[in-house]
Order: sequence, then C-alpha cells, then structure tokens
Amino acid sequence: MKFQQLRGMKLGAASASAQIEGGDVAHNWNEWADKGHIKDGSSPRRANDHFARWREDIDLMHDMGITIYRLSIEWARVEPDDNAFDEEAIEYYKTLLRYAREKGIEPLVTLHHFTHPIWFERRGGFMKKANIAIFLRYVQHVVRELGDLCHEYVTINEPNVFATMGYLGGGFPPGLSSILGAGRVMSVLAACHIQAYKLIHTTREQLGFRDTRVGFAHHMRVFRAQNPKSPFQRICTRVARHWFQNSVSSAYLIGHFGIPLRNYSGVRPGEYSDFLALNYYTTTVVGGLREGREPNSPRNDLDWEIYPEGIAECAKELYRLLPRPIYITENGTCDNEDAYRARYIAEHLEALLDSNLPVERYYHWCFTDNFEWLDGESARFGLVHVDYETQARTIKRSGAFYRDLIQEDAMTEALYQRYIKDQTYPT
Ligand code: BGC
Repeated sequence: MKFQQLRGMKLGAASASAQIEGGDVAHNWNEWADKGHIKDGSSPRRANDHFARWREDIDLMHDMGITIYRLSIEWARVEPDDNAFDEEAIEYYKTLLRYAREKGIEPLVTLHHFTHPIWFERRGGFMKKANIAIFLRYVQHVVRELGDLCHEYVTINEPNVFATMGYLGGGFPPGLSSILGAGRVMSVLAACHIQAYKLIHTTREQLGFRDTRVGFAHHMRVFRAQNPKSPFQRICTRVARHWFQNSVSSAYLIGHFGIPLRNYSGVRPGEYSDFLALNYYTTTVVGGLREGREPNSPRNDLDWEIYPEGIAECAKELYRLLPRPIYITENGTCDNEDAYRARYIAEHLEALLDSNLPVERYYHWCFTDNFEWLDGESARFGLVHVDYETQARTIKRSGAFYRDLIQEDAMTEALYQRYIKDQTYPT
C-alpha cells in the first residue's frame, strides 16, 4: 500500500432517507415491506429512527471530522398528497441542513433515492411520460424552499438499478418483469434528470444564487467476460455493459440517446451534469446468457466481488465522456463484522489517487448501518454500528480509521499498521 496525501479529496458519508429515517410514511418501500418482500422481515418503518435522532447523527459526523454529507429528501413526506405540500416536513429538512451547516458540514441533496409517494406510484410512477411534470413540480418546490441551505443536488439515484431491480425481475417495487418497461423507466428518468438539471439552475438563478451544481448518481460496475476467449461471452458482455451502463451515461450526461433509451422530452445533445457522480461497489462477470463468477476473487458478505481498481476505471470512463469534477457519491461494502472495511476504503482511495483524476469528493456508503432494501437490517454497510433494538450508535473500527484518515489528510504507515495490516478479504 502506498502512503500518500489525499491531495484535496474530501472524505464524507452518504445516506438515503428511507434507509435511515424510519416512520409511518406513505412511500413505495414501506408498502413493499408490508407485503413481506424483505428477507429478514424488517421494514423501513424502523430503520435508524434518524427522523428523531438526526441531531445525534450529525453530531457524530462532526466528531469524526466529516465535512461533506450526502442525504436524500423523502418525497412522500414533503408532498404526502398529489400537489399538497407539507410545510412541516420541509421545515424538518431545513432545520437539519441548517444544523449541519452550523457544524461545518456541507450537504449534497438527492431528490429521488428509490422511494416516492404511493399516490405517485398509483398514477404510473416513472412508467408514464406525463408524470415527468409531477416530478419537476416536487423538485422546484424543494429547491425553492431550501434556498441557500443547499447548492448541490443529485437529481436521481441510480436510474439503472431502480429500473432493472423494479421492472426487470430484481425484486424491488413495483415488482415487474419487462425489458421494455425497464427501458421505458430509464428513458422517463433521463427526461426527469435533464429537465430537473435545467430547472434547478433556473430556479436558483431566479433566487439570486449562482453557485449551483447538479448531477445524477450513476451506478457503474466493471463488466468482464468470464472467459475472455469466448467471442459469444465477449458480445454478451458488451451488450450488458451498454444496456445497463453506457446508454445511461451518454443520455444523462450529454443527451445522446441510443437503444434502449428514448428521448421523450426531445432534449438536444448538451452537457447535463456539473459533476460526475459515481456509485461504485463491484463487478459483473458475464458467463454468456447467465451471470458468471471470477474464481477465487475477494468477496464481501453479500458475495459481491471486491475489485478496487474498478472505481478508477469507471471514473475514467465517465471523465472521457464529460470532463467534470468527480464525486464518488457512494462506495462501501457489506462487512457485517467490520473485519475488512478499513482495507476496502484504503484500497479504493488508493486507486482513485493513483488515477490522477480530479476526484473532489468521496462519500462513503454508509454513515450508519441502515435498512439495506431487500436485505433489510441483515446487511451492514456503516462506519457506525447501529443496535436496531436500542438504536444505540457505536463507531466501528473502520469508523475510527476513517476519522483518523480525515484528521491526517493522508494514508500513513501508522494508519496502515494500526487498522489495515491484519485485514484480509473473504474469498
Ligand atoms: C444504493 C444504496 C444501497 C447501496 C448498497 C446502492 O445501489 O444507492 O441505497 O444501500 O447501493 O447496496
């Protein structure tokens, strides 16, 4: 491992409202959990009770030296009924953001992170072009209300994951299985992102703010053929990469639409991101028409391959398409015993630093253990341990490593000796 300065890269943490807040909110994932789809029977209704404990969580971030935080707004709280906005809910987020700022923590706000109101779902959700306007109405409301409390936004989180998991048999709500449907949802979301990109800029300009930055969080993986000598597997790999990833990068970042995406709002080619927001976790090995597996590769507790160089490979790919500052908006791993998370972080940061790309931010996923979608409370990604029964928070060893890394502003030999040298990945 190389010992080096972080060279201006800020380290922070990420979260999403439904995964941490808890509460009886009428959004699609509470409904999905009520129908019994979560593996361990848990529900976002409990999660981390962050809605009540947000101050404690922000204080803890501050104590760890964190100065950047990615969080999301729960649309179903802010607009509980069609075109009826709840002032108290927006006030809640304003108070939280104001407090974070007072603590020296700069927010990056995501407007849609997998959850939305049930009434929106009933009206066809992101399957319907006509609903783009409904999303934009919500976006404009939030951006106006938050004013100078937030100047950086992520419009949509992982449209490809949202579409494939929800509309191509992945088990997310609404639980559909249609390749055309998934393509349609990614297309509607492309229009949502690009229109929201423009709208956030114009809205904030009208309010007199000129420091706006907007992007969408792209989930990228390294795709490789299990057997690189097989022409069939190589073709399948190319198709999968294009379908899931490259088509999205081109449409959302620069307005170039190709199969399976359609340009529903007739946007022109242009530049629709002020930063490149990358969520990176793992690889996809393609074994023909089935998913393959890299033999003897390091894996996390959900059996995802750990491949640190991939984070720089994906960032490079985005940068080639549109050279903008890079924010790693998510990177982390499911390590229930916190046995190798520190190594995982150090190796991914090393890959980024070695790439010499302009990586300005790294938001670790996640700050606290939280409700991990279909895996519920059973998959732990946090720097901070949560006891779901008592809601007690305890900084993990990896959290202590992260805190010291921020303090040192460098990966040092002392940190390596203290936190990493004995850590190995499962295979
Ligand atoms: C999502 C997060 C999720 C994480 C780990 C990302 O795809 O944006 O909400 O918890 O991966 O699975």
